[in-house]
Amino acid sequence: MNNIVEINNLKKSYENGNIKALNGVDLSIKKGEFVSIIGPSGSGKSTLLNMLGALDIADEGSINVAKYDLRSGKNLSNFRANEIGFIFQLHNLIPNLSVIENVEIPMFTSKLSNKERRERASYLLDLVGLTEKAYLKPTQLSGGERQRVAISRALANNPSIILADEPTGSLDSKNSKKIMDQLIKLHVEENVTLIMVTHDLNIAKLADRSIEFLDGEIIEN
Ligand SMILES: Nc1ncnc2c1ncn2[C@@H]1O[C@H](COP(=O)(O)OP(=O)(O)OP(=O)(O)O)[C@@H](O)[C@H]1O
Ligand SMILES: [Mg+2]
Repeated sequence: MNNIVEINNLKKSYENGNIKALNGVDLSIKKGEFVSIIGPSGSGKSTLLNMLGALDIADEGSINVAKYDLRSGKNLSNFRANEIGFIFQLHNLIPNLSVIENVEIPMFTSKLSNKERRERASYLLDLVGLTEKAYLKPTQLSGGERQRVAISRALANNPSIILADEPTGSLDSKNSKKIMDQLIKLHVEENVTLIMVTHDLNIAKLADRSIEFLDGEIIEN
């Protein structure tokens, strides 16, 4: 089977069932595909991304990602550490660590030595053009630079899937383009599956396919 994501009738509610954040979602995504997710605020986009990253567990239905059954609750820490790179809606870098230390965080659970970890973090910062900022704190960086650090960190463990929640949300058009160029380069050159939530229709159009959420359901696929 060629699908890296297979979701059937997925449901998730909050507040004792009063808020149906996902109301029966079916979705298949092929390995190496770039899929954008659009839809109004509150329609369930981040909820779906959280499910895909095993940050939260669904109430009903099935969700299989990279051969892991995410509703079984088994091996989820392996799954998160090895398969997923998450770029969050707010970039959540750790303020009192340097840029390069932030990139190293996911690698602490790997078998790399301190030296190998530092080398890989340097390589990843070089990829996003931030070698010169490696030893600054995140607060000394611009919004676009911080988002590029978040991309480096998401790539640390060679994930098969990158989940990006509004990665350009807080950026001007010039910085948005830079971020998108980096993500698309990864998708094209490394065959990384890219699943991205965005409010920007021009960015959504760059994807192989765009899906639209409304009230916890996919209305166009
Ligand atoms: N932890 C939670 N507890 C209660 N309700 C929640 C929780 N997380 C999400 N919701 C609700 O679930 C619905 C879907 O939220 P979600 O964050 O998925 O929306 P979204 O499409 O990502 O919106 P946005 O574009 O504003 O980021 C909303 O009504 C939201 O208030
Ligand atoms: Mg959201």
